[in-house]
Amino acid sequence: MEYKLRCIGVLTSGGDSPGMNAAIRAVTRTAIYNGIRVKAIYRGYKGLITGEIKEFQTQDVSNIIQQGGTILKTARCQEFTTPEGRRIAYETLQREEIDALVVIGGDGTFTGARVFAQEYNIPIVGLPGTIDNDLWGTDVTIGYDTALNTIVDAVDKIRDTASSHERLFFVEVMGRDAGFLALNSAIAAGAEAAIIPERETQEEQLESLIKNGFRKSKNSSIVIVAESKETGGAQALAEKMRVHHPEYDVRVTILGHIQRGGSPTAIDRILASRMGAAAIDALLDEQRSIMIGIQNDKIVHVPFTKAIKDDKQVNPEKVAILQQLSI
Ligand code: F6P
Repeated sequence: MEYKLRCIGVLTSGGDSPGMNAAIRAVTRTAIYNGIRVKAIYRGYKGLITGEIKEFQTQDVSNIIQQGGTILKTARCQEFTTPEGRRIAYETLQREEIDALVVIGGDGTFTGARVFAQEYNIPIVGLPGTIDNDLWGTDVTIGYDTALNTIVDAVDKIRDTASSHERLFFVEVMGRDAGFLALNSAIAAGAEAAIIPERETQEEQLESLIKNGFRKSKNSSIVIVAESKETGGAQALAEKMRVHHPEYDVRVTILGHIQRGGSPTAIDRILASRMGAAAIDALLDEQRSIMIGIQNDKIVHVPFTKAIKDDKQVNPEKVAILQQLSI
């Protein structure tokens, strides 16, 4: 389709992640730099339905690069999953004279974007904003590095008390059935193990830990567990441990939403800035229905269909390293 890029809309959707503000800033400023108007859409796709929209100038994104969360607010919008909801959203775009969208979020955000773009022939470019790092086609996502550092900082503190009391801690981290946060924080914090969904069942992983002489030569142990609705995560694992191995003094810490907040690391700010600029470049280049990714420090374009395909693998070398280094 031939279109003139006069005005773009930008929104954040799904779970927030540190660095989303840096991305909003980069999108806004790169667009204005290129003579394109910017309309900020509030509360994700919901804002397209309710018409909560405000035109942004460069100063609207001043002093936000260092802030966690998202100044645009975010939501998981049920109505947008219906054809009627998307019809209203399209009417809003027309009324506001928005020619293209930049959507910042995770797989749910891109699933919605893909359908919307197809139904109404709208140019949409996505930025991977999620702490989970579970999008295919990008080495890292915006917010992942900050969340990883938050976890490592928390686990370092837990280690102090675990070691004083000679306890076994199960620490549950987020990731929504993806083990990137769990595996990498386990390596960085020197944890004894990570229980991740990409490997065999929790029971098997736990049994192999015990068999391998878990805790024999140590006075504390920390196991990082990726959250899982199916298995019950750290809490369920700890219960099993208490029943089968009462000799261990077991405790559980669920880190929860602390992992989603905080000022983004320099790595996330730089990533978000590069990706935000790349989103506008891509739209100027008439790209559509793609996510901006990064591979080997190079910006890449990943079709939505691939980004959300749900089989990004954890690095087996890292699994082996964690095992070797925790003896
Ligand atoms: O997708 C990001 C994430 O933080 C997941 O890791 C987690 O499962 C989920 O969001 C939690 O969602 P909510 O904030 O809606 O409880």
